[in-house]
Amino acid sequence: MNNKIINFIKKKNKSKIISLAAYSKNIASIIDKHCDLILVGDSLGSVLYSFSSTKKVTLDMMIEHSKSVRMGVKKSLMVVDMPHNTYRNPKEALSNAKKIISETNCDAIKLEGGKKVVQIIKTLIKNKIPVMGHLGLLPQSAKNFKFKGKETTERKIILRDSKLLEEAGVFSIVLECIESSLAKEITKTVKVPTIGIGASVYCDGQILVTDDLIGLNKMKARFVKKYSNIEKQINDAVLNYKKDVVANKFPTKKHSY
Ligand code: KIV
Repeated sequence: MNNKIINFIKKKNKSKIISLAAYSKNIASIIDKHCDLILVGDSLGSVLYSFSSTKKVTLDMMIEHSKSVRMGVKKSLMVVDMPHNTYRNPKEALSNAKKIISETNCDAIKLEGGKKVVQIIKTLIKNKIPVMGHLGLLPQSAKNFKFKGKETTERKIILRDSKLLEEAGVFSIVLECIESSLAKEITKTVKVPTIGIGASVYCDGQILVTDDLIGLNKMKARFVKKYSNIEKQINDAVLNYKKDVVANKFPTKKHSY
């Protein structure tokens, strides 16, 4: 395990871990100084491309966006999502994870699932590829977008999976849309940091999609808190630009050669 990952794990029980998903250099370079971890999430499929699910996101899309994000990330741990159908078996996962790491220079990859992906995770880690797990609501395979962990059996499976992922060697686990007391139990049980999205305050850290947080994406999920209304700011700026052009107030001599 490299130092960056070791230092990340050490944050558990010391300080809250600040994480955000980003898809471009410009956003990444603004958020980098405030974050511990920046994820190039396959949520880019729905947020940027209006796909009905993340299943249509390709490896090439992830790689191109990650190359852009890499230019903006100087200090945070940079993690890239492995998209759907790119880690169906250990061999496929290893070849695609190596491609992501070598082309984007990211620090780690993330993949979704519990027991089913344990062998894959072990293979990647054996090959020195740091892996972040993802449990709870799994957008790449979900049949619905309801929160998880209400029923006893489902709860037990998620808790069991968190232990299996830890044993397999993940350095952190994203918990997406799970019941608060389950998030609390997992966070107490595993030694690696849990990063929640719709998974309560009990997680070791939180993650949101930056576009949701700044009000650039019209995301209405309960777990999103909008911290700014960038859509309005862009709208006002474009309106003022339009007014200036129509009134011949732009460009002025200052903007001309
Ligand atoms: O794809 C994504 O952005 C994610 C998170 C928000 C956890 O997986």
